[in-house]
Amino acid sequence: MTAQSLNLIETQNNLNVVELSAEERQAYRERIKTLLKERDAVLVAHYYTDPEIQSLAEETGGCVSDSLEMARFGRDHEAKTLVVAGVRFMGETAKILSPDKRVIMPTLEATCSLDIGCPEDEFAEFRAQYPDRTVVVYANTSAAVKAQADWVVTSSIAVELIKHLDQQGEKILWAPDKHLGDYVMRASGADVVCWDGACIVHEEFKSQGVVDLKALYPDAAVLVHPESPKSVIALADVVGSTSQLIKAAQELPNQRLIVATDKGIFYKMQQLVPDKILMEAPTAGSGAECQSCAQCPWMAMNGLENLCQVLEADDAAGQEILVDTALAEKAMAPLTRMLEFGASLNR
Ligand code: 13P
Ligand code: SF4
Repeated sequence: MTAQSLNLIETQNNLNVVELSAEERQAYRERIKTLLKERDAVLVAHYYTDPEIQSLAEETGGCVSDSLEMARFGRDHEAKTLVVAGVRFMGETAKILSPDKRVIMPTLEATCSLDIGCPEDEFAEFRAQYPDRTVVVYANTSAAVKAQADWVVTSSIAVELIKHLDQQGEKILWAPDKHLGDYVMRASGADVVCWDGACIVHEEFKSQGVVDLKALYPDAAVLVHPESPKSVIALADVVGSTSQLIKAAQELPNQRLIVATDKGIFYKMQQLVPDKILMEAPTAGSGAECQSCAQCPWMAMNGLENLCQVLEADDAAGQEILVDTALAEKAMAPLTRMLEFGASLNR
């Protein structure tokens, strides 16, 4: 890999090129701001969404964060309507934690490969094979899977939670991300049985590509989301959730950072470390045209147009998140445990 080819993957912050003119974008932004006020709504966005959406959340008193903070922020905010810009499990979590609020999303089609890969009936069969294990599921699951769990967890508190459960002598059944499951098992030393699921975005990071980049830039620090393969995690200076990677970017002395997670994170990260050089970790071999294609296709479905449409419509245009009441009541317990455990860690 040459320094020239690496220019391809150096971040230019020109992510998610929206095919709208500058005037159209501005008009959408103004209209969304007005509608948020009129509808008593707040925008809760994930770091992987389009920078246009993230900046709107920032400018309107909403939140841009990782999945744990999105859940907490939505639960605690006084607005009557939560507009969740992210993927469906994030909207469902918001609805379960705030049953009296209206939760809408720019599109209900935005899902997640981890959620898709863990259907509730198959998960129930898997769980039944291990009746003596404490069931811990990642937030990236459906409400129906969460309803079967003892705990829900996000990557920002996963290692601490599994260590805590291990200290209580509990054996763990983990689902659905096998890479995160393997990482928490190694970091905690706990007895973990893991579901075989993966994130289609993080699974693509290539350890050889990171090694090649490090050879060209030995002073660069490597930041890795734990949904990535073990061989990539092994090269990391810091492993953590999206918020933890952003914090690490601020705290590390390195001027150059190689980042293995969805490229949406660069908007916020670059804002906080304007003088540092951020590089996308490679997802392809040296012969490929696109050196890094780390972008979640479902997160990318959130745009200015569908955000505006869902706010405009009186009936939310079928984009309201509804969760069966009995299911929501069951899922509330493990989600509440997650938030309480997070609070005990000051997260
Ligand atoms: P975070 O909890 O780190 O925000 O991760 C959510 C996610 O979907 C990562 O792919
Ligand atoms: Fe799911 Fe991966 Fe997209 Fe995150 S990046 S929402 S884990 S598919």
